Amino acid sequence: MHISLFLTSLQLTRNSDTPLFRQLYAAIKQAILNGALPVGMQLPPSREFCQHLAISRQTVLNAYELLLAEGYLSGTVGKGTYVNVDLPQPPAKRTLVHTKSTKSTMPTTTTTPIAPALSKRGRQFLEFASPAPVHHDKSRAFRVSMPGLDVFPFDVWSRLEARRWRHHENKLGYSDPAGDARLRELLAVYLKTSRGVDCLPEQIIITSGSQQALYLLASTLLDPGERAWVESPGYRGAISALYAAQAEVCHIPVDQEGFDVDFAARHYLHAKVVCVTPSRHLPLGMTMSLQRRLDLLAWAKAHSAWIIEDDYDSEYRYKGAPIASLQSLDNNGNVVYVGTMSKVLFPGLRLGYMVVPTDLVAHVIQAKSMLDRHTAIVPQMVLADFISEGHFGRHIKRTRKLYAQRQATLLDAIQFYLADELDCGHADGGLDLAVHFRTRRSEAAVVQAGAAAGLELRPLSFFLSPRAEYVSPAYSPGLLLGFSSLNEDEIMSSSLLLREVLSSTKRSRSTT
Ligand SMILES: Cc1ncc(COP(=O)(O)O)c(C=O)c1O
Repeated sequence: MHISLFLTSLQLTRNSDTPLFRQLYAAIKQAILNGALPVGMQLPPSREFCQHLAISRQTVLNAYELLLAEGYLSGTVGKGTYVNVDLPQPPAKRTLVHTKSTKSTMPTTTTTPIAPALSKRGRQFLEFASPAPVHHDKSRAFRVSMPGLDVFPFDVWSRLEARRWRHHENKLGYSDPAGDARLRELLAVYLKTSRGVDCLPEQIIITSGSQQALYLLASTLLDPGERAWVESPGYRGAISALYAAQAEVCHIPVDQEGFDVDFAARHYLHAKVVCVTPSRHLPLGMTMSLQRRLDLLAWAKAHSAWIIEDDYDSEYRYKGAPIASLQSLDNNGNVVYVGTMSKVLFPGLRLGYMVVPTDLVAHVIQAKSMLDRHTAIVPQMVLADFISEGHFGRHIKRTRKLYAQRQATLLDAIQFYLADELDCGHADGGLDLAVHFRTRRSEAAVVQAGAAAGLELRPLSFFLSPRAEYVSPAYSPGLLLGFSSLNEDEIMSSSLLLREVLSSTKRSRSTT
């Protein structure tokens, strides 16, 4: 509270039995105790104080003297009087509560401080959430899902960006919540040719990373308590968005064909939303079979359910024919397609997008507009230039080749140095490789020993929800190793380090 406000709020009763200096003393003490006069605050000189309250200066001096003696104030005459900085913090305020047991409708005071309550939805934000990774340092082995910034054409990007700042075409005011029109047109063409996604540019909504798309979809499509099926193990970003929407989240095991539709329908009967990574399951890497895709689409059509297809790194496929998206097989408008620039370009750019069925477009755009009006416009315009001038296509082609080599190097390194320790999971594409321990050992001990050796290791159990009732037959303890941001020397030397880490943790008994 500002001191002048405090002075104005002071009410002294002149014809009271309590002397004025006592009343003043009590009022200042109370204000200090409840934090209205914070520690360190300077009080007005006694001369000013008495003029303001139209009382004698001696009254103020007597009150100050008492407060100085009791330690509430500090200072010396002529140098100012302060609320004592050595005072303990004021105790928490008491809160008025209604107790059910009392017949009176009057509020009663409790002595236990009660923090203001969060909404149920607010509490749900922490469900299955983990601190988002913050990368302040150069990517280390084996950071997951990190593109190789050593080959990103920063010179091109900065030239395009500088040009946009010079010629921003009056686009720096508020923009379309759905995103830059040119970028949406270019993405519609790109998605059609590369992923078979059939859509109009109007169905594309640009988001701040795919995380925002997942959050918007979870809150737009689900009422509290409605069911959502997710992959188990699965992507925490999607699962925590569903928990935040207060969905009843059902964790469905994946097998070698991906999401087990039949298992889900047998054990959990129905769902309003299904969230899947059909192109490459995170973290185990399998591709959802065509039969499972058709089964899921047929099920969604029959049950009027939404499927969220998270197609996060499908650009990187190193073996076999490229697989068309689930959306391209959908003839009923059940699939919402979600994509990101975090893998093909870099995560700090925070650009993602979704392709929504026509009926949903207006609702999702409105939700997006409420969240942040729109995603930052300059990066969108630069990305549109990057795509239209051919840099995007070239960068994907180049990195696809490079990451395939990096993955091959990692597979070789595992074969040379770690064959006794690790089994490799699916290696058809992506930026990371799941590896499983061949002998019983503790993931936590390996991660800890890895950190001491300078490695950044992500245990596979990170992707398992403690709430999951079923564990996938395809899951066993191990690690998700990112390789795309590491050059071949780094992959080799870090694999040797990992061998040391694994042998130093060999005798561990637990497998958690
Ligand atoms: C399955 C999956 N989806 C999406 C993303 C990308 O999220 P964002 O676009 O918010 O960076 C990731 C990143 O690791 C991911 O693993």
